[in-house]
Amino acid sequence: MVTCLCKNRFGMLMVKWKIDPCMQAIKSCNVGSLGLSPSLLRTYSQNLQPAKQDVKQEKSVSIKNINYRTDEWTNVTPKILSHIGRNLHLQKDHPICLLKDLIVTHFYSKYTRSRDRPIFAVSDNLSPVVSTHQNFDSMLIPKDHVSRQKSDNYYINSSTMLRAHTSAHEADLIRSGLDAFLTVGDVYRRDAIDSSHYPVFHQMEGVRLFTKHELFQNSDEKLSLFENGVELPDKQSGHTLEATKLVEFSLKKALEDCMEELLGKGIESRWVDAYFPFTHPSFELEIKYEGEWMEMLGCGVLRQNILDNSGANDRIGWAFGLGLERIAMKLFNIPDIRYFWSDREEFLVQFRNQKNIKNLKLKPFLSKEPALINDISFWIPNNFSSTDFYDLVRNVAGDLVENVSLVDEFTHPKSGEQSHCYRVCYRHLSRPLSQTEVSDVNDAIKREIVSQFGVRGRW
Ligand code: DAH
Repeated sequence: MVTCLCKNRFGMLMVKWKIDPCMQAIKSCNVGSLGLSPSLLRTYSQNLQPAKQDVKQEKSVSIKNINYRTDEWTNVTPKILSHIGRNLHLQKDHPICLLKDLIVTHFYSKYTRSRDRPIFAVSDNLSPVVSTHQNFDSMLIPKDHVSRQKSDNYYINSSTMLRAHTSAHEADLIRSGLDAFLTVGDVYRRDAIDSSHYPVFHQMEGVRLFTKHELFQNSDEKLSLFENGVELPDKQSGHTLEATKLVEFSLKKALEDCMEELLGKGIESRWVDAYFPFTHPSFELEIKYEGEWMEMLGCGVLRQNILDNSGANDRIGWAFGLGLERIAMKLFNIPDIRYFWSDREEFLVQFRNQKNIKNLKLKPFLSKEPALINDISFWIPNNFSSTDFYDLVRNVAGDLVENVSLVDEFTHPKSGEQSHCYRVCYRHLSRPLSQTEVSDVNDAIKREIVSQFGVRGRW
């Protein structure tokens, strides 16, 4: 048994344990190098003027022909907004779309009512622009919760944002009368820069609700879903233990079956206790990837308040949310998350008209180009967060940057001023970069630091 303590972005400690130790080790991924389109390349190398980052200086911002007023919460950038409408999950033969189709087909064929009609409905075209009520309040995320921070989310204004998770649609879809559904969409988070983090990625949400008769299969009239009890580590105060255990079993079985269907029976996986404000009990499923445990999804028994507020107070249910990029990287051996946004033919062609999608592995067609490392130090302004710098880097250097890490923090002994030193690793996915080219980009980043943060550099 393995135990350790750590946090997800909802911030609570959790204990991990391994329930499935005997599965065969998975093959490690090939690391190859693919590329960005020539048009993107041109954009990055010729135009080192950052896209205007500060949308909040404008009075309003227009997204899909709708104008939104800006305010002191506005922090979306033109670069981020340019991802809206790309809809990789709807793009035929794109790996994200192929993976979505594999999962949907699995749920369609495994869960049916009479005459083979699927139980799960699918919605994959909901706008990523949501209210903060949908993203947070409807999922019982407290007003002062850390996950609402400006440094973690893209706000259009104080009441409107780009969804940070597909959970933002759960309450509305339940209210619309659905008892079982899958929701797929692009989600937006201000995050680190490395090979598995990109500020836009895709999630699939799943929800299944049960009436008393569906859950207990009419087995015993005396069993009930609800009781007036106390909250325990393994159940909510209003749920009976037997109902909770059946829902939890259904949830874990559905997800284990789905992962095995996608990744093969030999995958090594483990359930981890977790915390989410919208479920209790809550779990994460981790899968071993290149020798490391990788979090694949979060899930749990839905908080009854969400169902009660959405007109489903006679039902109990489970929910999960999974990241499609993570699974696709593992399934197709894709070594860097930036590849999904590449429109390079050598990449896309490998996924086109393929019959045996599940066994498809990306063939590296270019050698890995060497990385160029540059350190940048500067005095940080008040209320600074590292994600402010990551956004600035993405805005100026786009996908030329593979990785950014904070390598040193320093506080001036007399003035108390603080400085950060970031290591920026430049590597193009398909061609070598020259130090001159990288220096130009690096200088453009420095200029932008001075103009945007109003601080002195330490270079
Ligand atoms: N929304 C969570 C996230 O993005 C993932 C998640 C966890 C979704 C548990 C759920 C759930 O529906 O029940 O981190």
